[in-house]
Amino acid sequence: MPARCMLIKSLSMKNFRVYEHAALSFGEKTNILFGENGAGKTTVLEAIHSLAYTRSFKTYLDGELLSYGSAEARVSGNFKSDKKRDHRVEIALSRTKPKKIKVNGATLTNQADLIGRFPVVCLAPEDGIITLGSPVNRRQFFDKLFSQVDPSYLTALQLYNRVLKQRNSHLNSFAVTGAVVDRGLLEAFDVQLAQQGAIIQQRRTEYFQRFKEIAYTIYPELEQGKSFKMAYTPAVKVKPEESIQQAILRELTSSQAADLRRGTTTIGPQRDLFLFYLNRQELRKYGSKGEHKLVLVALKFAEGRFLEEFLQEKPIYLLDDLFSELDIKRSTQIIESLQQGLQIFITSTDLADLRRHGLTLDTDQITIFDAGKIRDAQA
Ligand SMILES: Nc1ncnc2c1ncn2[C@@H]1O[C@H](COP(=O)(O)OP(=O)(O)OP(=O)(O)O)[C@@H](O)[C@H]1O
Ligand SMILES: [Mg+2]
Repeated sequence: MPARCMLIKSLSMKNFRVYEHAALSFGEKTNILFGENGAGKTTVLEAIHSLAYTRSFKTYLDGELLSYGSAEARVSGNFKSDKKRDHRVEIALSRTKPKKIKVNGATLTNQADLIGRFPVVCLAPEDGIITLGSPVNRRQFFDKLFSQVDPSYLTALQLYNRVLKQRNSHLNSFAVTGAVVDRGLLEAFDVQLAQQGAIIQQRRTEYFQRFKEIAYTIYPELEQGKSFKMAYTPAVKVKPEESIQQAILRELTSSQAADLRRGTTTIGPQRDLFLFYLNRQELRKYGSKGEHKLVLVALKFAEGRFLEEFLQEKPIYLLDDLFSELDIKRSTQIIESLQQGLQIFITSTDLADLRRHGLTLDTDQITIFDAGKIRDAQA
């Protein structure tokens, strides 16, 4: 059965960043948001992302999303998945109260329940850190993706991180103040870390394997001349005779003395590595700007197909500044791969530039918004 296609049909924003009041109806295929710098293009993508993921992709601080001087903001949108009925998502933000999220009029008690229901893939300049940044940025990319298709993975991660924080705080108080070490407590932490860590490492191995297969079919669609490889290297090496859980416990026990000296936990999935290689060289160290961008685009498309496979739903694509750093040849390849019946949003400061990058604008598949006019119409 072919996967359904997720759509956002409409969006309204009230006191959301630069938008005092705006309402938009989107096209089912390609939506272009154009306008000069500061016109409000990225803000529209942030609003859609907030409805799908409870927060913006640019900031964790909801207060930044409220228009200057406003005490409250509201974003709402109607999502639709093929023949199924519409779902209305509403977010109410306030400077003084916790944010409130409603789906079809009912307030969500657990906001994490929203994750994965309205799948969205977002590619923004901030995502450059996935290939350029430190290992933690790559772990976050994969953790976010795997959590969307597997809530129990997210639960294991949350539990692991909670215990890790407690263990580190205990180690730290020994290292800094010389407080007495509670070995029993450390052992109890280690058992829990090994349990949850084993789930994390096992699932990362499985999901990464599938992600890699998908990415290896996508990259050559965008770039034929180079070989792209990726690897997952868990920090804990498992011996043939032991389980992952036993291996993590063994490593935690044997690193206890070093951990006490350093005041932190030096082994476990929080040290796992995800690595990308282009023509056998590590991308992070040697890649050019355009090479980084093209791998990032391939990763994002792979993210989309991965979500589609597990959720049986094609996600919405939010593409902010898609073509920067890319030459015309690569851009044209990307457009060909994208226009496959998906709903996509592309921002640009210049429509002529989009045409130059190979996008045909005068078809009924394309809906064009002038961000400046959205703002002007808000009176
Ligand atoms: N909380 C806020 N309240 C009011 N205005 C804001 C707020 N946060 C940001 N802005 C302003 O909103 C405007 C639109 O920002 P946005 O990032 O959407 O522009 P853009 O069209 O994507 O621009 P660019 O082409 O430079 O990426 C900017 O002038 C920005 O300074
Ligand atoms: Mg922008």
